[in-house]
Amino acid sequence: MKILVTAGPTREHLDPVRFLSNRSTGKMGYAIADVARLRGHDVQLISGPVSISSPASIVCSRITTAQEMHDLVLEQLPDMDVLVMCAAVADWRPCEVSRHKLKKNAMQSTLPLVRTADILEAVQRIRRPEQIIVGFAAETHDILSYARDKLDRKGMDLIVANDVSRSDAGFGADSNAVTLIDKTGAICELPLQSKHEVAKKILDWVELHAQKIHANASLR
Ligand code: PMT
Repeated sequence: MKILVTAGPTREHLDPVRFLSNRSTGKMGYAIADVARLRGHDVQLISGPVSISSPASIVCSRITTAQEMHDLVLEQLPDMDVLVMCAAVADWRPCEVSRHKLKKNAMQSTLPLVRTADILEAVQRIRRPEQIIVGFAAETHDILSYARDKLDRKGMDLIVANDVSRSDAGFGADSNAVTLIDKTGAICELPLQSKHEVAKKILDWVELHAQKIHANASLR
């Protein structure tokens, strides 16, 4: 299959030296890309700024902002069988980006922000029904109920609910503990394990789901 994976954070600049971002290191998304490549899939990675290097023989496009990730995902999606949105995309950006470093005396104590484009909401409008869309939900509380809400609202096939309040899971850790929830409501809890093991389980679900889609198509 052709699989598009997004990973890492985005950066939303205020001026040439300051930006809004988050703690994503890219480890989870890169693990998914790596496992998919090892299983023989054709993998494209879109990555925000991270310090880890991209897995060997994977085409990796580097972006900085949510808008850049949005534009590249929408451009590449038509050619894909699967999209895995693991990136921690900023939800807000500063209203204005200054070309010059802002002097602290000229700065206000409040920062006017605007919403960034929601990539998965845009994907929902243009996706083909047979494409498989996987998203993540990074939450600190009421994890399953927020994840279910995102699954429905953003029209995903599978959501990976990630408790990011733990130090051994979520942002930065080499391990993760997540719950997979599919659009039928089926739930699979994955206790603490390496991000590579989590990536394998997500890919298992994707491959099984793809087989079902093809079996249904050949019955028609
Ligand atoms: O990179 P690591 O350090 O390994 O950490 C991994 C991780 C914690 C970043 C990863 O496991 C994870 O949870 N990724 C999703 C982070 C996130 O942005 O979650 P969210 O609940 O804010 O967003 C929900 C979904 O919408 C996500 O699939 C996100 O990619 C997508 N989104 C968000 C904002 C936006 N403007 N457009 C989007 O499509």
